[in-house]
Amino acid sequence: MCGLVAAASQRDVVPSLIEGLKRLEYRGYDSAGVAVVNENGLKMARALGNVSHLSERLATQRVAGHTGIGHTRWATHGEPSVVNAHPHISSDEIALVHNGIVENFETLREELVAEGYEFRSETDTEVVAHLVHACSKRCDTLLDAVYQAAQRLDGTYAIAVVSKFHPDKIIATRRGSPLLIGVADKENYLASDIAAILPLTPYYITLEEGDVAEVGADSVNIVDANGDVVVREMRQSRQSALELNKGLYEHYMQKEIFEQNVVLERTLVPALKDGMVNEDVLGENARDILSDIEHVHIVACGTSYHAGMVASYTLESLCGVSCKVELASEYRYRRAVVNPNTLFVTLSQSGETADTLAALRFAKRSLYRGTLAICNVPESSLVRESDMVFMTQAGPEIGVASTKAFTTQLMNLSLLAILLARYRGLSRRREQGLVDVLRRAPEQVQRAYSLDNEIREVAEHLAESQYTLFLGRGQMYPIAKEGALKLKEISYIYSEAYAAGELKHGPLALVDEQVPVVALAPFNPLLAKVKSNLAEVRARGGKLLVFADKDSGFRNSSRETVLTLPKSGGLISPIVYTVPLQLLAYYTALYRGTNVDQPRNLAKSVTVE
Ligand code: G6P
Repeated sequence: MCGLVAAASQRDVVPSLIEGLKRLEYRGYDSAGVAVVNENGLKMARALGNVSHLSERLATQRVAGHTGIGHTRWATHGEPSVVNAHPHISSDEIALVHNGIVENFETLREELVAEGYEFRSETDTEVVAHLVHACSKRCDTLLDAVYQAAQRLDGTYAIAVVSKFHPDKIIATRRGSPLLIGVADKENYLASDIAAILPLTPYYITLEEGDVAEVGADSVNIVDANGDVVVREMRQSRQSALELNKGLYEHYMQKEIFEQNVVLERTLVPALKDGMVNEDVLGENARDILSDIEHVHIVACGTSYHAGMVASYTLESLCGVSCKVELASEYRYRRAVVNPNTLFVTLSQSGETADTLAALRFAKRSLYRGTLAICNVPESSLVRESDMVFMTQAGPEIGVASTKAFTTQLMNLSLLAILLARYRGLSRRREQGLVDVLRRAPEQVQRAYSLDNEIREVAEHLAESQYTLFLGRGQMYPIAKEGALKLKEISYIYSEAYAAGELKHGPLALVDEQVPVVALAPFNPLLAKVKSNLAEVRARGGKLLVFADKDSGFRNSSRETVLTLPKSGGLISPIVYTVPLQLLAYYTALYRGTNVDQPRNLAKSVTVE
């Protein structure tokens, strides 16, 4: 949700800013801009649309300097337009970029208008630019001006500021939105995400809430929220810059779908020891906390929420612990009843989703036995703030629609379920049997890839539909929801998922000859029930696309296409059945000519509420 990058160097920083913005584009792609300070003052370029439009603009407009800031926007206040694009400039002296939402911007705007400031945009960000300028008139340093301005802001922000009077420095601050400092030899950076600067440096310092930093080419000074000088620890990122490329694939989403067999293996192997789940991967205090757990409360957003829904079935049936799964945006604004010995689990690819993070902070003030984050980004706020962490090893996920992060979350949730079951009496033999099932996941996913061509063919027809219904029962119900979400996110076809048993309580009214119904029907104890539901669809002339295995007993017909997946055990069938649904969404979007990796109106990391 908006990405910012900044650089102070002894060379022109514009190429690094543009490269950084390209890698941050998953956070927003409505507009982009850069500003630099040089001996002639401030120079700025902004463009509507993605970063490539900004690059084109820079080919004709010379902008160069040793200190600069850049931004890629996901519009909140004010439509996507050049005027609303960041950076925002105040009095030709200060340029500022911002990620987050300033909630009291209207009050501040009135005050600043009364002081004589003229507003050009509809954004909340321009208020901050003028506020910093107003404060700079009363402060000795730019750092102090930013510190003072930040005291007036309600809401969330990560901000970077340059001034023509301090051409060697960037001042930055954050509260609620991510921001880190990248440290390199004779140049330093600021970025919303380490991915933006990883090819330049793996070394970074995370800014804490309320920190204000002054960053020069060879200096970093930080004051904390109280204004006291602090030294923050420098860390080295474990992510690989190589994984940030698309390689030979046409889209990041395609690459990420086809990486799943590898990243599932990479997630599973370090979590095992002697054929059992290794509790140490969750940290030193894991055993102490997990052995007490009787209830689990999972909170997440979007695709991660669907992973939680899948896990609730396993946690209750395998471990006998009760499990509640909730959307973070709902949980954070209600008073939840917390039973004794409840584990609070957050699921998040990015570890920066505003609602999930707020939910964790809220939960930490309640009486949970402990908090656990299942997350994909080691540098994220969620990871830093949780008692226990169980990392997915999906590697950077760039496509806005989540794929490999989801299946690796499912893997870790299964491992967690096995661990909790162990503390509640699961035998060693049974645990080893379950682990063996999980070990088959990479190979089964690879076999699911062989449906690629068949899926491409059915996607051509699906691309013509207006509306699609997805059905599943048990753990296949959240997988159906995930399939419907993938399809609507990237192809813009309205798609809805229902627990198949709910069909006659409403959605059946929508079924006619035109509506494709996608059904998930693995051979399992619920199959007979699913078949009855599909008979109801057939009777109304609905077109069926059935994902099943060879034992499920479906046959192709003129109104029914059956795609056969490998037969997989209960624990891994949600992972295996997810893959063809991702491919289905991907190819349908290709036929419709939509932007697969950057679907309209969406952003990958939702760092605002
Ligand atoms: C956005 C993304 C989704 C993602 C959701 C939650 O909506 O587009 O793909 O599932 O945020 O993100 P998280 O990083 O917390 O998993």
